[in-house]
Amino acid sequence: MSSEKDDLRRIRALSAQLHQHNFRYYILDDPQISDAKYDRLLRDLQALEQRYPDAVHAESPTQKVGAEWRPEDFVADRLPPVQHGVPMLSLENAMGTDDAVKWIDRVRRGLELEDGDANPPLTIEYKFDGVAVSILYEDGVLVRGATRGDGLTGEEVTGNVRTIRSVPQQLDDQHPPARIELRGEAILKHADFDALNQSRSAEEGLFANPRNAAAGTLRQLDPRISAKRPLDVFIYGVGDQQGIDLSSQQQLVDRLPRWGFLASPFLRSVNSTEQLLEIYQEVLDSREDLPFDIDGLVIKVEGAKLREQLGVRARSPRWAIALKFPPRQETTRLLDIQVQVGRTGALTPVAHLEPVVVGGVTVSRAGLHNPKEIDRKGLKIGDQVVVQRAGDVIPQVVKPIESLRDGTEKEYHFPEQCPACFQRVWCPEGEVIPHCQNLQCPAQVRGRIEHFASRRALDIDGLGEKLIDQLVTEGLVKTPSDLYRLDVDAVAALERMAQKSAENLIAALEQTKERPFARLLHALGIRHVGERVAELIVEHYRDIDSLLAADADQIEAIDEVGPAIAASLVDFFSREPVLQEIEALRQAGVQLKAQGPARPLDENAPLANMTVVITGILPNLSRDQAKDLVSRNGGKITSSVSKNTSLLVAGEKAGSKREKAEKLGVEVIDEAELIRRIDESTDPSGS
Ligand code: IVH
Repeated sequence: MSSEKDDLRRIRALSAQLHQHNFRYYILDDPQISDAKYDRLLRDLQALEQRYPDAVHAESPTQKVGAEWRPEDFVADRLPPVQHGVPMLSLENAMGTDDAVKWIDRVRRGLELEDGDANPPLTIEYKFDGVAVSILYEDGVLVRGATRGDGLTGEEVTGNVRTIRSVPQQLDDQHPPARIELRGEAILKHADFDALNQSRSAEEGLFANPRNAAAGTLRQLDPRISAKRPLDVFIYGVGDQQGIDLSSQQQLVDRLPRWGFLASPFLRSVNSTEQLLEIYQEVLDSREDLPFDIDGLVIKVEGAKLREQLGVRARSPRWAIALKFPPRQETTRLLDIQVQVGRTGALTPVAHLEPVVVGGVTVSRAGLHNPKEIDRKGLKIGDQVVVQRAGDVIPQVVKPIESLRDGTEKEYHFPEQCPACFQRVWCPEGEVIPHCQNLQCPAQVRGRIEHFASRRALDIDGLGEKLIDQLVTEGLVKTPSDLYRLDVDAVAALERMAQKSAENLIAALEQTKERPFARLLHALGIRHVGERVAELIVEHYRDIDSLLAADADQIEAIDEVGPAIAASLVDFFSREPVLQEIEALRQAGVQLKAQGPARPLDENAPLANMTVVITGILPNLSRDQAKDLVSRNGGKITSSVSKNTSLLVAGEKAGSKREKAEKLGVEVIDEAELIRRIDESTDPSGS
């Protein structure tokens, strides 16, 4: 006779199995067992539930039959939160082998090893470049899949995980552990990524790289979509475990294929620095031949005892480190450097390159930031140049290959006149970015109108770049308020403009008069006043007149608003043409007063509720770009490190802020990790 405990356990296992067969049958249309076998399992469960009526769960597969199952039963309208019992930690990054060697020294000190003592046993694995996933098995049956989220709370993605071919629905084990949570990386192999992109329509758009595609797939609401994208999972660790003790990496890796997972493609044991360096070089040289992306190696101290002794920090264990590979680089030709004029008049050089594929993405343009940067790098037009994607995302020109010059290369001179209006360029004292000061410069006017009409500003439907160009060129629009003076006839008279489209544009403009005041404030394009700052300001100044009357000190008193923002606002509103424009907008009837309660913050943003400090010189992003990136993703920027700081983003020469952060136990990350975290939690498919 089996004990009650065994019976209850069997009830749980049977209902999990039946759920998973329902899923395969009704959603994937790909059953794995015969109808007869399914019926037998269902009858077994019914019989057991009759003996234990209290154990019948409302969601039990016995409570619904056949035709009652609908795809909607499996398709979520949001991904429910999952609390990770054991936090899903991240890894500290070593940016080169020197850092890794220093880490080994720290480990040695942490374990109180003497000079003559051997190193602790270390294992080396690939650092898979995908997205982390947690997969929970109870009594050997897959019961839950989850994303990492912020490490403490992730999102439930069980349906999607069930579609992954290399994740067994049931562990192949006569005596499975009562509970085991396996953690790994969901990835897309190159071949599957290419096939997926080929099958995508123009509206769907292409995925930038396998990691983005994997992240988007794992967080799909509809598992039928995930099922069409062949993810794989490599398991690299264990979270929660009961009834088993898989405490060494070697034990885990030995067990995985027996349970039905993909075998780990790479695991080496090392105990000397020389071996580590050899393996690093070997993998770096062969990474391009792998069928999937890796972005480094992960070195782990082997064994539970030593790991416990070393312990963990807030977000990463002391017993492991990611040894990152340098970004992928390619060479190509620098065809030209062109200068773009932004809406603020800033002139930024852009490198036009012979298209080249860097880490799976075609690069044909790269920002060069400012003229000093071009001089520093010593670029000439026609040069063969090294290009890379920073943090494997943002394309940049690293350097020219001087040895490949043949004398045909041409010196580059930054223009002294604005390429759009030919007025003299001016570079403010102490700044590196030249400006065009002509407020009527057509490039600036176009830029301002484009910004005004853009989706996150006033969102003017049907007013795209081309039409704006026509309106500005024809002299119909010089300022945003001119848009509201357009009539159907004037618009319809433009080349290639149909009567109907003209009517639609005028109707769309009419609708934008209802957009909230904060959107309008952002749409005005005031320096340092992005979407979030505009909202903060409107929370305090509920209409334009009180804002016009405020001085810099008053504005600066708003939490999170610093002196640069306050000065920029006061300066903007002190200009006569701006005041005229505000009056014109008032006449047009747009909202210059806030209505209703302020919009709540986006709690799901990747950096929601985090206070972030940026210090040192970041390799790719300017300080403003980094701040903008953080605040666009929900983070709050402050200037000094305190115990309330959640993250310090440190670049080169980080100095005292880094020391303070380390003392206070504040997590320190680099630019690449910042970009990665934002990427990881942003679903590029837009669902
Ligand atoms: S171990 C407590 N091993 O890298 C240690 N992580 O940057 C947790 N990753 O979130 C991670 N390959 O998603 C580990 N062989 C590997 C890995 C790996 C890729 C990912 C993982 C983690 C991220 C940290």
